[in-house]
Amino acid sequence: PLVLHVLGARPNFVKAAPVVRGLAELGASADGTGFALRQGIIHTGQHYDALMSDVFFADLGLPEPIANLGVGSGTHARQTAALLTGLEDVITEHRPDLVVVYGDVNSTLAAILVCAKLGVPTAHVEAGLRSFDRTMPEEINRVVTDALADILLCTSPDAIAHLANEGVDPRKVHFVGNPMIDSLFAALPSLDPERIRARLGLPERYAVATLHRPGNVDDAAAAREVVDAVREVSELVPIVVPLHPRGRTRLAEAGLVTGGNLTIIDPLGYLDFLSLVKGAALVVTDSGGVQEETTMLGVPCLTVRPNTERPITITHGTNLLVTPATLPAAAAKALADGAATPTGELPPLWDGKAGPRIARVIAAWLRGDNLAP
Ligand code: UD1
Ligand code: UDP
Repeated sequence: PLVLHVLGARPNFVKAAPVVRGLAELGASADGTGFALRQGIIHTGQHYDALMSDVFFADLGLPEPIANLGVGSGTHARQTAALLTGLEDVITEHRPDLVVVYGDVNSTLAAILVCAKLGVPTAHVEAGLRSFDRTMPEEINRVVTDALADILLCTSPDAIAHLANEGVDPRKVHFVGNPMIDSLFAALPSLDPERIRARLGLPERYAVATLHRPGNVDDAAAAREVVDAVREVSELVPIVVPLHPRGRTRLAEAGLVTGGNLTIIDPLGYLDFLSLVKGAALVVTDSGGVQEETTMLGVPCLTVRPNTERPITITHGTNLLVTPATLPAAAAKALADGAATPTGELPPLWDGKAGPRIARVIAAWLRGDNLAP
């Protein structure tokens, strides 16, 4: 059988690497049952800068894509339209037995729609996460993707409950753990906080910030509020901001520029970024994945968002939701308190073995095993 992974954006690459590896190991250990598995990556080209794409293939050991659709950027409609036509062609050409999609980006949405219409079965990695906030483009992508996927692979128990509430057949749903954490575990031995700190000229105690959510960066007034709050935190601790290309201009106009205790840099590669986070006293973010990584690394995380689709990083981790108004005081407190998980208990199955679990579910499905729980 042929399995194709559709990947487009930075967090997709991080989630897919352990699944690709897990499937490769299963195929390699073909056990005489005639199960010969082939797989390939389709890169949609949603992210295309070297620091948003190539560096992840290198850092994560991902194989070269069999196709790159080069869809690039655009409005939601234009980008999704390019994704739909590009993916329809390539999936029709390769006729996979299963397509695996990841997370909640526009490439995920387009792939699930194309496959549903072509009658190609699909698996969704990171199914069931919900912010219940439909002003987020990602929430729309998550709801549509889960309505159409044939196999739903969940990273946390709350996700299973959401799918049950939405009437998804429980036989399609599997609790597999978090492949983003597999990638983190695989990276740990290569992380070098000291080296990146020296390279960036940072003192021993520093904070890291990432910002790219439309709600924070697309609107000038919102951007100014967030930037003012980050500037205020920078009076407590030096902050380095590896800045996503989205909203770079608007954030600069709002005052997010290098100077004083604030250093703005290009996005970092995966290993450099995790090294930086591992050595940080505090992280301020609006990223999804970074909420999870800080939970595992025990680094305090302040998430500048009104909600999160990853509440387990609050109950079982180091995450706290803040507004621009509450960020400075929360940062002062986090810096004083240091790292600690409130319960001391990490999220279940975030153990570095999600990739092999997902591979087993997929292999069993391809073999036609009865997957009923
Ligand atoms: C996308 C996802 C978001 C995810 C983020 C991860 C959607 C709807 N959003 O947001 O959920 O958190 O990826 O990083 O899919 N750009 C570049 N170079 C690149 C890619 C983008 O300069 O390689 C710039 C372009 O100006 C582009 C903008 O960033 O218009 C936004 O890119 P896009 O892929 O549309 O959405 P993201 O904000 O990256
Ligand atoms: N990341 C990175 N370099 C950066 C910022 C983030 O490698 O400069 C990694 C981060 O460690 C995580 C992933 O990118 O694995 C998260 O992607 P992003 O924040 O863009 O998307 P989200 O998770 O919000 O969808």
